[in-house]
Amino acid sequence: MTSSPVFASASWIASSTVGGPRTSAPVPYVRKSFRIDQPVRSAKLAISALGLYECEINGERIGDEVFTPGWTEYHKRVQYQTYDVTGQIQVGENVLGAILGDGWYCGFVAWCGRQVYGDRPRLLARLEVTLQDGSTVAVASDASWKTTIGPILESDLLNGEAYDARRELGDWSKPGYDASRWESVIVAPPEHPVEVVPRVGPPVRRIEEIKSVEHRKLDGHRTHIFDFGQNFTGRVRLKIKSSRGVNVQLRHAEVLNPENRLYTENLRAARCTDNYTCHGNGTETWEPRFTFHGFRYMEVQGNLGAEDVVEVTGVVLHSDTKPTGTFRCSHEGLNQLQHNIVWGQKGNFLEVPTDCPQRDERLGWTGDAQVFVRTAAFNMDVRGFFHKWMQDMRDSQRANGGIPCVVPAPWSNDAISQDGGPAWADAEIICPWTIYLCYGDKEILAEHYESMQRFMTFMAKHRCKGHIRNHPDAVEWQGFGDWLALDGGGKTEGITPYDLIGTAFYAFDAGLMVKVAEVLGRQDDAKHYRALHQEIVEAFRHRFVTPEGLVASGTQTAYVLALHFGLLDESVRSVAATELVRHIKGRNYHLATGFVGTPYILEVLEETGHIDVAYKLLEQETFPSWLFPVKNGATTIWERWDGWTPDKGFQDKGMNSFNHYAYGAVGAWMYRTVAGLELDPEDPGYAHIVFRPRPGGAITWAEAGLETRFGQAGIRWELKGEGLELKLIVPAGARATLQPPPGYVAGKTAYGEGTHQVTLKKA
Ligand code: BGC
Repeated sequence: MTSSPVFASASWIASSTVGGPRTSAPVPYVRKSFRIDQPVRSAKLAISALGLYECEINGERIGDEVFTPGWTEYHKRVQYQTYDVTGQIQVGENVLGAILGDGWYCGFVAWCGRQVYGDRPRLLARLEVTLQDGSTVAVASDASWKTTIGPILESDLLNGEAYDARRELGDWSKPGYDASRWESVIVAPPEHPVEVVPRVGPPVRRIEEIKSVEHRKLDGHRTHIFDFGQNFTGRVRLKIKSSRGVNVQLRHAEVLNPENRLYTENLRAARCTDNYTCHGNGTETWEPRFTFHGFRYMEVQGNLGAEDVVEVTGVVLHSDTKPTGTFRCSHEGLNQLQHNIVWGQKGNFLEVPTDCPQRDERLGWTGDAQVFVRTAAFNMDVRGFFHKWMQDMRDSQRANGGIPCVVPAPWSNDAISQDGGPAWADAEIICPWTIYLCYGDKEILAEHYESMQRFMTFMAKHRCKGHIRNHPDAVEWQGFGDWLALDGGGKTEGITPYDLIGTAFYAFDAGLMVKVAEVLGRQDDAKHYRALHQEIVEAFRHRFVTPEGLVASGTQTAYVLALHFGLLDESVRSVAATELVRHIKGRNYHLATGFVGTPYILEVLEETGHIDVAYKLLEQETFPSWLFPVKNGATTIWERWDGWTPDKGFQDKGMNSFNHYAYGAVGAWMYRTVAGLELDPEDPGYAHIVFRPRPGGAITWAEAGLETRFGQAGIRWELKGEGLELKLIVPAGARATLQPPPGYVAGKTAYGEGTHQVTLKKA
């Protein structure tokens, strides 16, 4: 084990109580009493856990972070936190204590069962106190610590938490407490060597609280159903007044069934149920510690009396990524769509970018993150969040350079954990490049460059036949295809060929590697990737494109990828675009694309002169479309266009999340094209802002704001008669160029710091 010097003389400690692969054990409390005999000059605590910890000193909770130390690739790395606890240490007896949750380390993870990384939670801690005379006292986790089991009888991220308030331990972390019946901890080094490193990226916090909008009492007084009016990720704080020993079950669901009760089938094996047993002394308040749920509705059920009080407050949890962007326009449906995208992001940016927060999955799916990263970087400051996740990706990268389908990769015994396949594994290159574009952040490229190169080599060596990636002749797994596209006749992968998607992304990656190498000043590498890119493009054309410009399989996604990734000869682009439009019109202005094609379709239409078609798709309200869920009451983005329909009800319960951000990738188009707030890849991070509003559809005004590294940038436009009124905001240190919409002329196009009111006239 490599341990950081801040943990000198500290050992990993644990309780001797241990659960099994399917059974969890009660949550251990650990404590150490120690004496300080002089006034304290300073005190610093370094603390980590394999599992989750909540720390207390002398009865006071330390820090406001949730799910510490965070989720990393525990096979390699775990983070620690440091706290200045000078104010907490006193002369006389002191107590340093912690409560240890299972978390991702040994609780249930997705469908992998428990104990994926280790058998029980462990704590590593070291407090260093500097006394008035300059001497230091260190208190480190070791065999002298004591442990016991308290009120938390079960605690699991997927299943929920069970708390028996009759078993509370009182002032267990305060001096003077009688711990004589506590047992000794065991020293328990982790099963695998693990590096202990300082935290990277933002912690999870309780970000906001929401009140329920409806409270229904059913079954006499036994059942209370609450509606928070918003699908979100977190848990509730329960306020209850009942009799000693009354046990209430707190169930959570995203939607209601036709009987107006909680619909939980789509949660699969995740129980998502908390349990609370009352101590019965007046009003009791409780919030679980080591679990979260994805829900809008929750039910409190138990043997409650008529006079009993049950109140709940929703506690929203996510990684503390500061909000940076706003988008609004004259179309209320699109404003609700933007709201749903932001809540999808809040609900799924929790330690890692997850696919969904409710069912037994909640994994860092690489494909989902890759399609959404650009949108995410508008809504919130996700730079630190992605720095951390790219570290997880490096840690999860396979020895041959392959990138798994999920990061962190809790398992490693099948094909998808070795190679996530086209559009998933490519997050390896697309995510750092996008963070570079949005924040001007060269560091992420430098940090990740070697890993990207290894991934490119992996593809060339192990996944290609003559530059065709995922060739049908290959025996390897082919990928997820155009996941959830509607053109597959019921097949979740859609019908666009795997090798077409694979080769298109391989070309895209090679093209990005040219740019990355150039940014990093590696001209030889740039030359290599430029040649590779050219060869892949030629292989793509040879295999998939007719001389006239038709693209094999003829799906919307095939055309979108060929056009968006610049894989077609200039002379045939318009033919391909016409075919794409023909396809869309053939479906009466509806999408047939899945996770792969959807993020780029509007951009492609706009670039090829079909913005009218793009707006028709954006404003489409019938299935399948972005506004169909909005029309049907969605408050987050659904995994499937038809998660619920009035005629068919719920989609397949095996895969039907109501909080899946992937299709929310359209948000970037709303910022960049509807409002017109764009960056310049040549001078990234909004050093050079490009204002390019492209009014269309029924929208009469739109606005976007973004807190950039220079300060607030923004644009607002409004159609006024024959003119277009603009307000442009350029922060100090940045410059801007206005690119008027086709058909308008601008006298002046270059703008510096300040707020500028401009009216454009039709040409
Ligand atoms: C996840 C997706 C993911 C997919 C892979 C699903 O179970 O929820 O969002 O990308 O599997 O195809």
